[in-house]
Amino acid sequence: MSRGTLIDLLYLVSATTFILALKGLGSPKRARMGNIIAAVGMLIAVVATFFKQVDGHNLNHVPLILIAMAIGIVVAVPTARYVRMTAMPQLVAIFNGVGGGAAALVSITEFVHIHSTRPATYVTLEVLLGVLIGTVSFSGSAIAFAKLQELMTGRPVTYPGQQILNAIFGLAGLVIIIIILVTGQTLLLWILLILAFILGIAFVLPIGGADVPVLISLLNSFTGLAVAASGFTLGSNLLIVAGTLVGASGILLTRLMSKAMGRSLSNVLFSAFGSVITAAAGGADQRPVRSGSPEDAAVLLSFASRVAIIPGYGLAVAQAQHVLRELAEELEAKGIEVFYAIHPVAGRMPGHMNVLLAEANVPYEQLLELDEANSEIQTADVALVVGANDTVNPAAKDDKTSPIYGMPIINADMAENVLFFKRSMRPGFAGIENELLYNPKTTLVFGDAKDTLTKIVAAVKAS
Ligand code: TAP
Repeated sequence: MSRGTLIDLLYLVSATTFILALKGLGSPKRARMGNIIAAVGMLIAVVATFFKQVDGHNLNHVPLILIAMAIGIVVAVPTARYVRMTAMPQLVAIFNGVGGGAAALVSITEFVHIHSTRPATYVTLEVLLGVLIGTVSFSGSAIAFAKLQELMTGRPVTYPGQQILNAIFGLAGLVIIIIILVTGQTLLLWILLILAFILGIAFVLPIGGADVPVLISLLNSFTGLAVAASGFTLGSNLLIVAGTLVGASGILLTRLMSKAMGRSLSNVLFSAFGSVITAAAGGADQRPVRSGSPEDAAVLLSFASRVAIIPGYGLAVAQAQHVLRELAEELEAKGIEVFYAIHPVAGRMPGHMNVLLAEANVPYEQLLELDEANSEIQTADVALVVGANDTVNPAAKDDKTSPIYGMPIINADMAENVLFFKRSMRPGFAGIENELLYNPKTTLVFGDAKDTLTKIVAAVKAS
């Protein structure tokens, strides 16, 4: 077998591992294995590439490539290892942006190379699309990162004529691509690059912080397309397969997330959701609520026979997943049945609650998805809402004027009693008042979820 055939075979193995990895990532049980499979596949691809020959020549600039890889490893490994779970969306944003930027650089290099070796009009469409899409993904992801990291406002930044201007930028990009293809003008590439950079920023500015995770998934899909374009440019089937997989899964995830929020993708991208601050966000609502102590909550839980735990973003903030599992075990030891109701967009990233609860060794069988959870919750004595808010807000069902109207929610209000753990009357990420806080069934236990749960565990143990 020739060296080239062996490398092609290794690339095929690598592409297959990417597909298997995606399959693994489809379930919390197999997700870790899926990740490992993808990493092994990537390692095979990288090592094989070092032995690849192009036009009979070995890989050029190996020491430079190794230095670049070493820098990447030194930056990325500690960042990924020590990132807080709540900061994961911004990490994904920045890593994704770097991927898009790399794909754009490959295309630019290829453009310059073609220009120095072949007729000016030899430049192909995929090279230019790689520059456009990769750069949009790079600058857009940088703004998404800045929003989530609170380096700038998380609210939508809007100005008159914004969408029309964005459409003009996009069209101008396509026109420039056509002119370059016809005339081979080098200078226009740099104009395309600047335009794509501005378009990425302008595209992301009007999207509010609550919608940024959906946007990141879309930008991830863009990066995939840019990588696939690089694959065509470099004649690499592996890059085409890997890029297409990222592009397709990114767009599927984007659609799933929009659907789980009860909104269309165009509404997520163009409605500047979150720019209006409601009365609750401003703290104007003075209606009385019923509040209780952790000890009161412990009594209510101890007398229940079925408890539905509804975790949300606040669980991740408080890092209370371990003590929550401990409470569930204490209740089970008393013969109380416990299950977890998982909303698909609870938290700030897809699968956030699953990852968090898996980290605390909560059995997978106890995690019920939205529909199943809602059919079970009617028989629960207590719905225990731990750091969730928007995902249990009945306005999504009852209030046609609410911005979240139509979003499927966990029907906590269908349980016999509701225990709500949060620190204040502040709203959730969507900035919308939650009627459930004022429901006569609801008892609010104010405080950090971890502190509250620790006190409840002690009280349940002592009872
Ligand atoms: P949210 O509606 O954001 O509510 C989180 C709640 O946690 C808040 O009410 C907050 O109240 C409380 N909290 C924060 N820190 C706490 C702490 N240390 N201890 C106790 N409570 C704490 O959360 P959710 O129900 O999970 O909904 C997720 C939101 O993000 C939805 O609007 C969803 O559409 C959006 N979103 C999610 C995703 C994905 S993929 N997950 C993607 C895009 C958008 P206090 O401040 O009063 O404590």
